[in-house]
Amino acid sequence: MTLEGGKEARGGSTRFAGSVAVVTGGSRGIGREVAESLLQYGADVLISGRSAEALAEAASVLPEVTGAAGAGRLETVAADVRRPADAERVIKTAVDRFGGVDILINNAGVGHFEAVAEQSVDDWAQVIETNLSGVFYCCRAAIPVLRQRGGGWIVNIGSLAGSYPFANGAAYCASKAGLDAFSAALMQEVRFDGIRVSVVAPGSVGTAFAGSDDRHAAAPWKLTVSDVAQVVVDLLRHESRSLPSRVEIRPSQPRKG
Ligand SMILES: NC(=O)c1ccc[n+]([C@@H]2O[C@H](COP(=O)([O-])OP(=O)(O)OC[C@H]3O[C@@H](n4cnc5c(N)ncnc54)[C@H](OP(=O)(O)O)[C@@H]3O)[C@@H](O)[C@H]2O)c1
Repeated sequence: MTLEGGKEARGGSTRFAGSVAVVTGGSRGIGREVAESLLQYGADVLISGRSAEALAEAASVLPEVTGAAGAGRLETVAADVRRPADAERVIKTAVDRFGGVDILINNAGVGHFEAVAEQSVDDWAQVIETNLSGVFYCCRAAIPVLRQRGGGWIVNIGSLAGSYPFANGAAYCASKAGLDAFSAALMQEVRFDGIRVSVVAPGSVGTAFAGSDDRHAAAPWKLTVSDVAQVVVDLLRHESRSLPSRVEIRPSQPRKG
């Protein structure tokens, strides 16, 4: 496992060569960009998501990356993080295909934004079960495998919404605040096994998250998926003595009002 101090430069780099990463929600948006960066830096990467079509679409594009010299191998698995058996299957597939797991990026997430009095029970449950329980299921499945490898990383993609709640975002803000607390507790449980746990908490990112239309998603003031992927990759490069356990990233000039 090589998680630090590798060679420089994107494209053909071997910075994470020999490492295996699992990226939940890797079929589009932030997860796909993180997966692409890790592949370019030499990691073998398994991406998951509910839609087999979206995974196939990602897999049809990513070979341009995996075909480069020094790039890692890609695997896809259709799986719903809300189902514990699916989480187990994702980790088992990575072990069967690549021999283990060193990096787990818990990125899969959804948002439903309505006033509490108007929110359906189903929408509430989907947000909490995906953004919070799903992370628990994936961590629970991955930790024994990370321990077998002698350590690794769990990076949970949180949100500034976890620290700065807003009206009509109760479910989403609560899910991400819960994720912050979950991550801080887990970090203390597994640190002496060599497993580092971090939260990366972005502000607004230009993706199709929660049904954002393309025009809105592409607003120039927003972070890009590359900005977030850069933070994740930089985090993973820290020397083993160092643990940036929570990183916030926000647009430097957010929309006013
Ligand atoms: N975009 C933002 O402004 C922003 C800001 C802060 C934090 N975040 C966080 O960043 C993460 C990624 O967001 P994004 O903007 O990249 O969203 P996105 O473009 O909508 O992508 C979400 C990904 O998660 C997958 N997913 C959703 N529900 C899932 C489930 N139950 N099981 C497995 N995979 C599931 C989706 O695939 P399927 O639909 O096929 O399952 C997709 O691959 C989320 O945790 C989000 O809360 C986003």
